[in-house]
Amino acid sequence: MEQELTVKQSALARKSIRKYTDEPISDEVIRDLITTAGLAPSPWNLQPWRVIAVKDPETKAKLMAAAYGQPQVGASAVTFVIYTDMTDTIENVENTIHPGMKEREAEVAQQVRDHFANYSEADFHWWGRAQAYTFMGFFMLQAQSQGYATSGMLGFDPQKVKELFGLPDHVQIPALVAMGRPAEEGFPHHRHDFEDFAKII
Ligand SMILES: Cc1cc2nc3c(=O)[nH]c(=O)nc-3n(C[C@H](O)[C@H](O)[C@H](O)COP(=O)(O)O)c2cc1C
Repeated sequence: MEQELTVKQSALARKSIRKYTDEPISDEVIRDLITTAGLAPSPWNLQPWRVIAVKDPETKAKLMAAAYGQPQVGASAVTFVIYTDMTDTIENVENTIHPGMKEREAEVAQQVRDHFANYSEADFHWWGRAQAYTFMGFFMLQAQSQGYATSGMLGFDPQKVKELFGLPDHVQIPALVAMGRPAEEGFPHHRHDFEDFAKII
């Protein structure tokens, strides 16, 4: 296996890449990337993110159509559908409570359910989306560290993506992520100067 990049090296190397070589990606690599990204933190450890890894060329072609024809979906070795299922998350909250808190499980589960009971539907969905973007950040850096390029996408029709994968109406789809070995350079980074978005006090 090639030498993995450090987190900083991955951040420096990562750019949105929309063209890929035809090198396939094994299920083992896909499982490892998803599992590692799943180590991302989330409030109450709820882990509301869910992932579908789409390798099948026919399904990718349909997904590309649902993504307004964005070619990186079809060109990728695999495109990931990152979605959140807050209904499943709240129904099964006990599954994500740490075993070390077993004796307080019922109390914590109730606290979580009470907290979300006051949320509007929109807030509820946005809460899940926020956690999914943390997952996505972990995912992209981990992919980059192994020499895989990625491209995040919000340009897709969520309804069409739900229909394609038989996902229930209540799920949210924060992003698609295309991935493969890079076959282009991508654009150089263009970011705010430090003073424009941060201060140390
Ligand atoms: C959540 C998200 C959605 C994005 N949606 C699209 C998209 O639909 N199509 C696209 O070509 N790029 C998309 N991008 C890529 C951004 O344009 C890109 O990350 C940004 O311009 C910075 O460039 P870099 O990723 O090369 O550093 C998306 C990026 C993110 C994080």
